[in-house]
Amino acid sequence: MEKGGGKIKELAITMNLMSENDLIEFAKKFGTGLRRGDLIFLEGELGSGKTTFVKGLALSIDIDMNMVSSPTFTILNIYSGKLKIYHMDLYRLNNIDEFIEAGLEEFLYPKDGVTIIEWPGIIESTWKDGFLKVKIEFIDNMMRKLMITFKGKNYEKRFLRGDFYENIKNR
Ligand SMILES: Nc1ncnc2c1ncn2[C@@H]1O[C@H](COP(=O)(O)OP(=O)(O)O)[C@@H](O)[C@H]1O
Ligand SMILES: [Mg+2]
Repeated sequence: MEKGGGKIKELAITMNLMSENDLIEFAKKFGTGLRRGDLIFLEGELGSGKTTFVKGLALSIDIDMNMVSSPTFTILNIYSGKLKIYHMDLYRLNNIDEFIEAGLEEFLYPKDGVTIIEWPGIIESTWKDGFLKVKIEFIDNMMRKLMITFKGKNYEKRFLRGDFYENIKNR
């Protein structure tokens, strides 16, 4: 599997999502760009909407969003649709050694799906290969702002398509 690399591209695009449904609808569109072996980091404080974002991505590959739940205690949940989603939450791990000891490395760049990681801090800081990062900022009770960053693997081509952002621009 091609891991990608190169320069990190910070996008100027920020999106204001006014409700949970808005965020799910955006993630559902965004998820149509997903391909096998993709790696997504999800950043944002507790309750910002990371798990909710995964629900939207799941919808885009024919996974029932009610199958998606927070892997805070299980560390890894796996869902099957057109692709598999390996959904991790590293909140409870303290360092990369614990990540490796837990055997989680083998779920990175999978041949049959994508890996989505909440609280990726312990691996992100030293990450050399490609990834797509979505940062969710808490604005108020309902409103969230997203910031998207890419590194390698043609993520830019697949995820910068204007039609993902149409609704947002027209707001
Ligand atoms: N615009 C929004 N986008 C996402 N979640 C929202 C939004 N507005 C309110 N919420 C609520 O915020 C919470 C987000 O929870 P969750 O997705 O589990 O967050 P995290 O995984 O980041 O801890 C949910 O209770 C959801 O209903
Ligand atoms: Mg979560």
